[in-house]
Amino acid sequence: MAGPGPVSKSMIDPFGRAISYLRVSVTDRCDFRCFYCMSENMTFLPKADILTLEELDRLCSAFVAKGVRKLRLTGGEPLVRRGIMSLIGSLSRHLKNGALDELTLTTNGSQLAKYAGELHDHGVRRINVSLDTLDPERFHAITRWGDFDKVTAGIEAARAAGLAVKINAVALKDLNEDELPDLIRWAHDKGMDLTLIEVMPLGEMGESRLDQYVPLSLVRARLAQHFTMEDVADRTGGPARYVRIRETGGRLGFITPMTHNFCESCNRVRITCTGTLYTCLGHEDSVDLRAPLRASASDDLLAAAIDRAIGAKPKGHDFIIDRRHNRPGVGRHMNVTGG
Ligand code: 5AD
Ligand code: SF4
Repeated sequence: MAGPGPVSKSMIDPFGRAISYLRVSVTDRCDFRCFYCMSENMTFLPKADILTLEELDRLCSAFVAKGVRKLRLTGGEPLVRRGIMSLIGSLSRHLKNGALDELTLTTNGSQLAKYAGELHDHGVRRINVSLDTLDPERFHAITRWGDFDKVTAGIEAARAAGLAVKINAVALKDLNEDELPDLIRWAHDKGMDLTLIEVMPLGEMGESRLDQYVPLSLVRARLAQHFTMEDVADRTGGPARYVRIRETGGRLGFITPMTHNFCESCNRVRITCTGTLYTCLGHEDSVDLRAPLRASASDDLLAAAIDRAIGAKPKGHDFIIDRRHNRPGVGRHMNVTGG
């Protein structure tokens, strides 16, 4: 609960959860077309709808002023946003003055060779890189437009620059399930944690996602034939549950939005690249922050809109893959909401 101190500054939702983690999608665009995320002929939002870099800075800073301690930039692919380094450089002031504990991003890795050094210079210390396979042909089948060598070179550049890299891999029944032990060994050999993600019912993508769905409970049971998994007690406040693999010494996370409930410890909210605030990934309820942002140069309207939204954060989500109708539980694309 709020406890003593400057309560008005922090964001406490109706269920007593303090909101300290903000994820912001800085663009809906991406240089990949992962089949579970986008269609190949994706249409993107008009520029005028997307927040400018200055608006993104104001928005993030308003949340930092309200108690956000951790900020994650997502997309789309955040590093394809033009001028992204100037936004990150500007946001790094909150790290320097101690208002923010962590500035991080989730990336597909394609631009890391170019930006890793600058990211580290701006105070970024950890990043998540999405990588589902170590096989270049499979990588191409999954991402359609991705260049495997560029991504692995990006990961190496990030590590060389001193960034801790966590690998996120979506578990896909026929596309990478058989190589997950290898992927885990590869990551752990390099000292990188790896988190497995269940395919989520976001956006319309035809039948491919349902065909590829494999519950992580099953994946975990199969991995137990290769590895000794020891439960790790600490939760990060997020959806991942971690085990330590005795054979590698590395950490393996599981994100199972479909089969698990982690809502009671939820400390996060998300903003789309158009300034729509989602207080829960599994709910359609949203609050537009772009209008108050653009209505006035002062942040008073924005702050009031944020308070109203946090005051209405839902208790939990109810994802369903509607198997009979082959429809997602939530009808928006991942690249808009942010991963
Ligand atoms: N289900 C699960 N994960 C997804 N991602 C994108 N779309 C989906 C989906 N439908 C993941 C990416 C990346 C992060 C940004 O989100 O693979 O790890
Ligand atoms: Fe791009 Fe990530 Fe979506 Fe793949 S999953 S298309 S890398 S935003």
